[in-house]
Formats: sequence, C-alpha cells, structure tokens
Amino acid sequence: MTTMEALLGRRSIRKYRPDSVPKDLIRQILDAGLYAANGGGHQIPRFIVLNGREKVRDFSEIVRAELALFDESIYLYESGTILKSRSDPDFDCSYGAPVMILAAAPHAHGNSMADCCCSVQNMLNAAYALGLGSCYMNCPHWTTRTRSVREKLYSWGMKPEEDIFAGLVIGYADRLEGKAAPRKEGRVIFV
Ligand SMILES: Cc1cc2nc3c(=O)[nH]c(=O)nc-3n(C[C@H](O)[C@H](O)[C@H](O)COP(=O)(O)O)c2cc1C
Repeated sequence: MTTMEALLGRRSIRKYRPDSVPKDLIRQILDAGLYAANGGGHQIPRFIVLNGREKVRDFSEIVRAELALFDESIYLYESGTILKSRSDPDFDCSYGAPVMILAAAPHAHGNSMADCCCSVQNMLNAAYALGLGSCYMNCPHWTTRTRSVREKLYSWGMKPEEDIFAGLVIGYADRLEGKAAPRKEGRVIFV
C-alpha cells in the first residue's frame, strides 16, 4: 500500500472483532505516533497503551459513567455521545476494540493538543496500512478532568500536570465502512 492509498483509504471503524492485536503491530503503530511531527521537536506526548479487551472495556465504562453526568447543553459537539452514555448503560465508546492508546501531555504546554493529534493521526494511518481498523476516540479527552478517569490514569502513570488530549482504538474490523463521503467544495483556496 502506498502512503497516498493509506491516507485516502482509511476509515473510522466502529465495530471490532475480539481478537487481540499482535504486540509487534502495536509497537509499529506506536512508532508512527512517536515519530509524528511535534512542536519544536520537543517530543512532549506520552502514550498510555491499554492492551487487552478487558482493560479497554473497564476504562470505557469509567468514561461512559462520567460522560453521563455531563451537561449536554454546554458540550454541544459531544451532546449525542453524552445522551447515549446516559440513556444506554451498555454504550461502549471503544466499540469492542481490544486496544486503546491515549496521548497525554502537560495541560500548560501550548502545543500539547496539536502534538497529540498529530501523533494520533499518524497512528490511525499506520493501523490502516498494517491491515487493522482504528477510530479516533475523543471521550477520554472530554473526561480527562473527571475524578474517576483521572484516578485510573494516575494508576497507569499519567502525571498530575498532564491531561489526555487525544486517543484512538485499534483492532480487527468486524464491519467495514464504505467509501469516504465526498469532500465538501470550497475548502481549498489556491492563490
Ligand atoms: C477530533 C476528532 C474527534 C473524534 N472523536 C470521535 C469519537 O469520540 N468517537 C468516534 O466514533 N469517532 C470520532 N472521530 C472520528 C470521526 O467521526 C471521523 O473521522 C469522521 O466521521 C470521518 O470519517 P472517517 O474517519 O471514516 O473518514 C473523531 C475524529 C476527530 C478528528
């Protein structure tokens, strides 16, 4: 697969088989994240890897329970997920995936969001190039300041000065997506 094929062919996968992902593939995906462009070359993001369906499921449930308490009128972009988290106790933001990777960085650092997102995008593309499904996962970012999510993240080594800025889930797709939606007109200005 060429780089352009990977960039144009990747889709978000929202249903996974329970099969685990071989560690060497996870390692290659992490390398893609570690080698992403990063502000000033400072290599700020650190990655928390939840490897194993049980770990991912348990953490997703902590996230869901916290999201359910959010005021959906404030978090307009996330309101659908908040309402789902509240109305459906079985809502799984990880879609059954066996691996979740969270990108952590200091909340006071100006490039944290951009650095973490660059890393996650690299990992999404790498997963696709390696024959795996993946999906950007923002619920851990939204709930990063909540007590029970933080407690769990601290137990895994996140530092008090860090937040989760971005994340993704990875696994073998149980349902493939069709072609990407046509790109909207008027988004490119040549001068
Ligand atoms: C900043 C950002 C946050 C996202 N958060 C989520 C999320 O929490 N859950 C989810 O299922 N997809 C999430 N996505 C995936 C988008 O919904 C998806 O990329 C978009 O619908 C386009 O589909 P495609 O990735 O298949 O091209 C997120 C993507 C981005 C860039």
